[in-house]
Amino acid sequence: MSGLKDAAHLFRFAGLFVIAFLVFLLIRGHVVPKTFGEYGHYRGAAIAGVAAHPVQFAGHQACEACHTDIADTKTKGKHAHVNCEACHGALAVHSDDPASVTPAKPDTAVLCARCHTASAAKPKGFPQVDPADHSGGVPCQTCHNPHSPAIGADAGTGNAAGGAK
Ligand code: HEC
Ligand code: HEC
Ligand code: HEC
Ligand code: HEC
Repeated sequence: MSGLKDAAHLFRFAGLFVIAFLVFLLIRGHVVPKTFGEYGHYRGAAIAGVAAHPVQFAGHQACEACHTDIADTKTKGKHAHVNCEACHGALAVHSDDPASVTPAKPDTAVLCARCHTASAAKPKGFPQVDPADHSGGVPCQTCHNPHSPAIGADAGTGNAAGGAK
């Protein structure tokens, strides 16, 4: 036992570690949420929590099923790959109950400018304009059909008058 003659301080030190570890376990038991680790390194109950959020977006397939005329126009035009809700906003509430929720028409002065205002950061090939110079304050949809915006030969079935189908 002579080797451990002066070891008491080591045991006290080890004891401190054990106590610290127990305190850690105690606090951990209190602060870690009950369902943590149930499925993985996250709170299991979060899944139900997230799933409980109401659905906001209907998805373009839903819109197209009812608004077939607009879907037809759009697939032939330059906005074929811009989704309905990218412009109209999340509309699951309308999609679920069109009779009682009528969506507002987007404000084109804000909407079109958001994507098409000229900026050096945009790819050169992307169509961009200086809205004030380009339209002189005339609403974009006076000349462009939002659902098929090109003017000229490749304008699809789009009618360049405002609010056209
Ligand atoms: C179940 C069929 C249905 C679905 C799905 C649907 N709509 Fe409609 N939508 C209608 C009907 C019917 C009206 C006309 C309601 C009215 O005039 O009050 C309408 C009206 C609208 C209007 C307003 C038209 C106006 O004259 O002001 C917009 C914009 C619109 N829908 C966009 C959408 C978008 C975008 C989606 C997909 C997120 C969508 N709708 C999904 C049936 C549907
Ligand atoms: C969410 C972004 C977005 C919004 C909002 C948007 N556009 Fe576009 N626009 C696009 C994309 C993407 C294209 C296709 C670009 C391409 O073909 O490279 C396009 C193409 C066009 C073109 C065709 C240019 C050409 O090649 O001849 C015109 C014109 C246009 N948009 C006008 C409008 C108008 C007017 C509005 C408002 C009603 C609008 N856009 C709103 C993304 C947007
Ligand atoms: C007075 C009619 C008129 C109004 C209003 C108008 N445009 Fe245009 N726009 C045109 C014409 C004409 C063209 C050229 C068509 C072409 O080149 O095929 C054009 C072209 C464009 C292009 C394509 C530019 C390119 O480089 O290919 C975009 C994007 C565009 N307009 C966006 C808008 C936006 C956004 C608004 C609203 C702020 C708007 N336009 C308002 C007539 C108009
Ligand atoms: C690039 C933006 C954009 C996209 C993409 C878009 N819309 Fe629109 N939509 C508009 C704007 C802007 C108006 C309002 C035009 C006006 O005020 O005259 C409108 C109007 C409408 C209307 C009212 C009737 C009409 O023709 O004016 C309906 C319904 C509609 N959109 C449905 C849809 C559906 C369904 C889709 C997808 C298949 C879609 N929109 C995609 C911008 C868009």
